[in-house]
Order: sequence, then structure tokens, then C-alpha cells
Amino acid sequence: MIRIAVLVSGSGSNLQALIDAQLSGQIVGVLSNKPDAYALTRAKNAGIDTAVIEHKHFPTREVFDQAMHQQLLDWQVDFVILAGFMRILSEKFVRAWEGKMLNIHPSLLPFYKGMHTHQRVLNSGDVFHGCTVHYVTPELDAGQAIAQGILKVGPHDDANHLAHRVHGLEHLIYPQVVEWICRGDLHYVQGQAIFKGQPLTDPVQFCKF
Ligand code: GRF
Repeated sequence: MIRIAVLVSGSGSNLQALIDAQLSGQIVGVLSNKPDAYALTRAKNAGIDTAVIEHKHFPTREVFDQAMHQQLLDWQVDFVILAGFMRILSEKFVRAWEGKMLNIHPSLLPFYKGMHTHQRVLNSGDVFHGCTVHYVTPELDAGQAIAQGILKVGPHDDANHLAHRVHGLEHLIYPQVVEWICRGDLHYVQGQAIFKGQPLTDPVQFCKF
């Protein structure tokens, strides 16, 4: 059984979706850089080991990342899931987990990398919006996209409402992609995602119009 760690900084609704999905793999630890992250409570309620490593106690990003890396090794983790983890990771850390680390981002990548995606989508008048599960590479929000949840922006959507709708999609697609990993349906070979034995050319789409 594949051993998974989830890295969090906040509410952890994606963590909850992963817990509720009863994956074929095991979430062996939840690591937060914030001691008051509600995600830690969710983990404890589910009987999952937790660790808090506060970035502000470390002199550099690299030393902080090394402490996280050591915790992941202690948990004997096979795969790392970023679920609302709000720190940029050092290249060394990312390289150490390349092909074994996923993130979810609240936009249809490659559009709207970075922050405030919902407002930026509204400002641009886009028709479609959503979220993307992607492998993590050193360049921010730029690793290969595996799956996208897509919705249509409504005339009455504001940024909060859009965030809520996108979250609903996140909770659908993230457990699905992690389950593919757990079942051995999704691999990463030399920078390329292999899905069910074939190179993945485009992300798998889940539409909710
Ligand atoms: C999500 O919007 C996700 O796309 C982004 O951070 C947020 C995490 O939310 N990476 P939660 O902590 O899982 O509720």
C-alpha cells in the first residue's frame, strides 16, 4: 500500500476529501507549516499522525525544506500531496520528490498561475474556470497537468462564490487522481505522465456546467 503525506497550511477541505475518499493508499502523515491550521484537527479526528514545522523558525527556505524532507523520510512516504500548502518549495526539495508530488491549483492552468485566481478570471470576463491537479516541478504551477475540473462562470458569480464552486470541483478531482496513483494507473517517467499505460497528452477533464 502506497504511503502518502499531505502538506497543508489552512482549512484542509481537500485533505478532508482525501480522507473521506477511503483511498487504496494510506495517508500516514499530515504536515503543516502553521500550528493553527484547521487541517491538523481534521487529521487528528481521522487518527492520522501530524507534524508542525514552522517556517519562521528556520533561517532559510532550504533549511526549512530539509526539515520537512526529514519528516517525510521518517514517515517512509512514497508520495506527497500538496493541499493548500502556502510555501514556495526550494528546487532541491522539489527535485527530491519530482514525479512523487502533486498540487492542486484553483485555475485552468496554464492560465492564472499564482494568487487571486477567481478575481482575475472575473476581471477578464472568462467563460470557463476551474482547477488543475498537476505534478510539481521547480517552476511554480508549471508541472504537467493531470486532471482539470471545469465550470462555467455564471452571471451572478463573485470571487467568493466562484471559490466555493471551484472547491467543490477540487474535492471531486483530487481524490480521483490520487486514487489513480494508489492503484498504479498513473506514473511519471522522465518528466512525462503515463496514464493507464499511455503517455498523457492532455489533462483528463471533469466538466460541471
Ligand atoms: C485550494 O483552493 C487549492 O486549490 C489551493 O489552496 C486551497 C486549499 O483549500 N492550492 P483547503 O485548505 O484544501 O480547503
